[in-house]
Formats: sequence, C-alpha cells, structure tokens
Amino acid sequence: MINNEMLQELERAQAAVEERLGAYFAEDASYGRLLEAMRYSLLAGGKRIRAILCIKFCEASGGTLKDAIGAACAIEMLHAYSLIHDDLPCMDDAETRRGKPSNHIKYGEFTATLAGDALQAAAFETLVNSSVYDHKAAEFVRIFAEAAGPNGICGGQYLDLQGEGRLLTIDELLEIHSLKTSALISAAARIGVVAGGGDPRQVEAAGAFAQAVGLAFQIRDDILDCTATQEELGKPTGSDSANEKATFVTLLGVEDSEAVIRKETSKAIAALEGKFEKTGFLRWFAGYLAQRKS
Ligand code: IPE
Ligand code: IPE
Ligand code: MG
Ligand code: MG
Ligand code: MG
Repeated sequence: MINNEMLQELERAQAAVEERLGAYFAEDASYGRLLEAMRYSLLAGGKRIRAILCIKFCEASGGTLKDAIGAACAIEMLHAYSLIHDDLPCMDDAETRRGKPSNHIKYGEFTATLAGDALQAAAFETLVNSSVYDHKAAEFVRIFAEAAGPNGICGGQYLDLQGEGRLLTIDELLEIHSLKTSALISAAARIGVVAGGGDPRQVEAAGAFAQAVGLAFQIRDDILDCTATQEELGKPTGSDSANEKATFVTLLGVEDSEAVIRKETSKAIAALEGKFEKTGFLRWFAGYLAQRKS
C-alpha cells in the first residue's frame, strides 16, 4: 500500500543525507583522484536505508535529525566501502553498481581498493566527530567496529565467498546473512538509539528489529538477483548463480523465501512493541523494505 505521508518523510530524510554526504572529500589534494573515486561511490545514489534507520531510531528515542545525521553519513561511508570491495574481481566481480560502472571499472583496481579502505577509515572519523559527548562517541565506535570486523561484514563476506560452489545449509546461510548484512543494519539502528539518548532496553529492541529486517532485506536482495532486471537494480542480475552462491532462493525457492520475508518483517515490527513512543515510520518502513523492487 502506498502511504504518501510516510514516503514524503522518507524522501525528506534521504535528501538530508544526500546533502550532507555531498560535503565530504571535496577538497583539493595531490591524491585528488582517490577522493574522486571515494565520492563516485558515496554519491552514486543508493537507497540510504541504513542512514534512514539511524535517523529514525534516533527520533524514536527522543533525538532529532541533527543528533543522528553525522553518524548516518558515517554508516553510508562504511556501506559504500563494503560495496566497492564486494564488486572487485576477487570478490563478486560485478561491473555495475547503482546504475553506473563499478568503482574498479571506472578507476582501476588499486584505486578502488584504496577508495574502499579510505572510506572505511573516514567512516570511523566521521562517526567520532558526530558526537560532542565522549561517552556516546565511544559507544558508537564499539558498536560500529563490531559490525565492520570479523564478527560483522568481513566475517560474513569471508563465509559468503568461501561458500561459493557449495550447497550450504539454512543455518550456514543464516549466519552469512546475519554477519554480512544484518550486522551493519543493526549497528545503524542501535547507534541511532544511542544518539537519541535512548536506554539499553531500546538499544536491544532496535537490534532485534534490525536483525530481522536485515535478514528480510538480504533475502529480498537474493530474490531480486534472480527476478528483477539490471535496469531496475542498477547492478548485475544473475550474479549469485554465476558465482555459484547458495542463497535462500536456491535452498527454498522464491515462494518459501517470500514467506520468510513476511515472517521476519512481522518479527521486526513486534520487537518495537511498547519500547518506543513513536514507531509509525519504522513499522511502515519495515513493510516498505520487504516489498521493495530495487
Ligand atoms: C546492497 O545494499 C548490499 C546488500 C546488503 C544487499 P543496498 O540494497 O542497501 O544498496 P544501495 O545502498 O541501495 O545501493
Ligand atoms: C551483500 O551481498 C554485500 C555486502 C555486505 C557488501 P551481495 O553481494 O548480494 O550484495 P549485492 O547484490 O552485490 O549488492
Ligand atoms: Mg557479495
Ligand atoms: Mg555482490
Ligand atoms: Mg546480491
């Protein structure tokens, strides 16, 4: 169901994120082409869903957009790095991303690798600078570092690539999706709560919401990889089967995968119950993401 009010709220937050992101890495430098490569991927569009979750959990916890926007940009930087590296020939070997040539196709492999590395470091710097409170900055970094490292994206990407060519079990796939995708989505939501001054119970609820949304999000990504067109997605389709990756679709088929998405989305919405004062947008957003077409 199209809900114009919520869509407008989403577009307002997306616009605020785009505007702020546009200000990064614009300086002149001898390594200007590296900065250009960083901006190329950071500003190539993207749904900004992690930034939105950070902002909206901050607002649900009593904060404002201003309290979360810096952290939200940091999260998009880390996400952009993970996509640049994900597309490299030694990983998924994908030649398009967000409707444009992938970073290494446009800038070459060494520049793309370093642009990813630099975006990751800059993400931490941006995150720390986003809070004037030392105790909050330390908590941000603790959450963020865990999501980025072996117990998050890197561990998940390792298992994802190492699993190519094998038929994985559902439990193995759940672990991969949880690490490579849900970890950062969960960090975004929990950092939002901390930025908004929420309590530990709310941090936990945000984590439970995001864990479920993250799984549904990656299953939808896997379904779209085999059902959408390249124009709709802005990235190659059929990439998972070309790389012989086991996904929910290969293990369960599209119909049962859709059922898991519905179940996880309900689980996410239930996790918010009684924990925050305003959950209207977040509940709508979980359903919106579950049905996304790109
Ligand atoms: C792509 O993430 C990688 C996955 C975890 C599936 P998004 O679908 O959020 O990519 P953008 O940021 O909108 O391009
Ligand atoms: C998620 O998986 C990648 C990251 C965590 C960076 P995919 O490899 O399926 O993501 P897409 O489909 O290339 O965006
Ligand atoms: Mg991948
Ligand atoms: Mg990929
Ligand atoms: Mg994919």
